[in-house]
Parts: sequence; structure tokens; C-alpha cells
Amino acid sequence: MSLLDAARTVRENAWAPYSKFKVGAALRTPSGAVYVGCNVENAAYPEGTCAEAGAIAAMVAAGETEIAEVAVIADSPDPVSPCGGCRQKLAEFAAPDAPVTMATIAGVTETRTISELLPGAFRKSSMEKG
Ligand code: THU
Repeated sequence: MSLLDAARTVRENAWAPYSKFKVGAALRTPSGAVYVGCNVENAAYPEGTCAEAGAIAAMVAAGETEIAEVAVIADSPDPVSPCGGCRQKLAEFAAPDAPVTMATIAGVTETRTISELLPGAFRKSSMEKG
């Protein structure tokens, strides 16, 4: 199964009764393992979590901490763009040149690197004195 198909499949499980906007995310690590996540909303709106956050949590829970590639999909008019917070979360574990494929259910895709999505990311190194 492709990374995008994994994202498409997990999207079906999204819990999005408030926004009605289901998102699926899948990420591959250098080991070849794939971790998936979907958005999980909450009646207390700010407690909802994004699909990317779920996939990252699954990866870290499995003992992995490096993202090689990401796919995100939603039924959006344009390929779904990770929110600002998710760009920061992805940048924690992905190299600047790691590809992120954004997709629509209709079949439109767009691929950008992490550094294109979050130029000048604040990283661990940002806190280290030169
Ligand atoms: N959402 C994600 O899961 N990932 C993103 O990068 C964009 C937004 C979710 C959060 C919320 O459940 C719904 O989409 C509408 O914002």
C-alpha cells in the first residue's frame, strides 16, 4: 500500500463531528515502517488533535523518531495543507528535505519539502549557542 493510500484509509476513521472535515496522515520512517493518524475532535474544541499529530504519536510510541516521508489527505478543494502547528511538529522529526505529499480525495496531489512548508524552522539547534 502506498503512503497516500495508507493516509486515505485511516482518514475514514477520523472523528470530526464538528468540522465535518476528515483528515488522514501517514508517515514513513527510514526503517520502512508506516505510522498513520487521523484527526480526533472534541466537544471542547481546542482539545481536538490533527491527523499529523496522531501519526507522530504512533511513531514515537513505537520507538521511532525519524520521519523520511509524509502524506496527508482530505476532501479539500486543493491539496490539504498541514496547519502551522503540524508543520512545526513534523519538523521536529523530519529533515528539511523530507517530502510531504498533500492530496485531495479527488486525486490532486502536491509535494513540498519540510523546509518549503516551514522555512527557518525553530529547531533544537536554535537553542544551542554557537
Ligand atoms: N486538521 C488536521 O487534522 N490536519 C491539518 O493539518 C489541518 C487541519 C484537522 C483539524 C480539525 O479537526 C479539522 O481538520 C478542521 O480544522
